[in-house]
Amino acid sequence: MSGLLEGKNVNLRIAEKEDLPLFQEWLNNPEFQGEFQPLIQWSRAELEKFESSLFEPKTFIIEKKDGKKIGYMLQYNSYLGLGKLLEIGYALLPSERGKGYCTEAAQLMVDYLFLSIDVSRIQATTSIKNKGSQKVLEKAGFTREGTIRKTARGERRDAYLYSILREEWKEPKILTKTTLQS
Ligand SMILES: CC(C)(COP(=O)(O)OP(=O)(O)OC[C@H]1O[C@@H](n2cnc3c(N)ncnc32)[C@H](O)[C@@H]1OP(=O)(O)O)[C@@H](O)C(=O)NCCC(=O)NCCS
Repeated sequence: MSGLLEGKNVNLRIAEKEDLPLFQEWLNNPEFQGEFQPLIQWSRAELEKFESSLFEPKTFIIEKKDGKKIGYMLQYNSYLGLGKLLEIGYALLPSERGKGYCTEAAQLMVDYLFLSIDVSRIQATTSIKNKGSQKVLEKAGFTREGTIRKTARGERRDAYLYSILREEWKEPKILTKTTLQS
């Protein structure tokens, strides 16, 4: 699989095996993961073993227009009872935060998922203390549905559940061009 989802200031590029060293660097870096995400400390061997779960269903690298790799945007499945739910997650290099890049990347991801998958909702969870992530989701059109108690990792904090429904999305907001092939 190869391709690019093109936005205005950032693109989403599907992650490849060659990106594993970068992921290792990012996931092992407490500053990159931030205070609300788990600090895992992956060895390269562990990462390679989990390569399929890391990159499935899909992981994208967030790139600036000059090609600089500044973070990741991923799609994964979570479950409610027997129901499968589509969830997104993301993180950015500390030096690239606060510039609107993650909001744009989240909008791109939502456009891509609603355009490519027959799904009625996309969701995300975030610590109740993660104000930046909450703002990203709200700016990308997500609605806060409620609190999930003691689920956020770390200190087992409460988390907020956000979602956007297909009828709320209506049409692509930012995706201007895609060469993605699956
Ligand atoms: C959360 C995170 C992804 C936000 O990315 P970002 O690129 O800085 O977000 P944006 O620049 O698109 O900001 C969106 C809005 O949130 C605000 N914001 C960003 N960080 C914030 C913070 N720590 N506190 C309060 N508001 C914040 C921005 O000012 C902006 O609002 P504005 O448009 O009204 O000015 C980034 O801080 C990060 O990577 N954190 C570590 C990993 C993480 O927590 N991931 C999410 C797990 S659920």
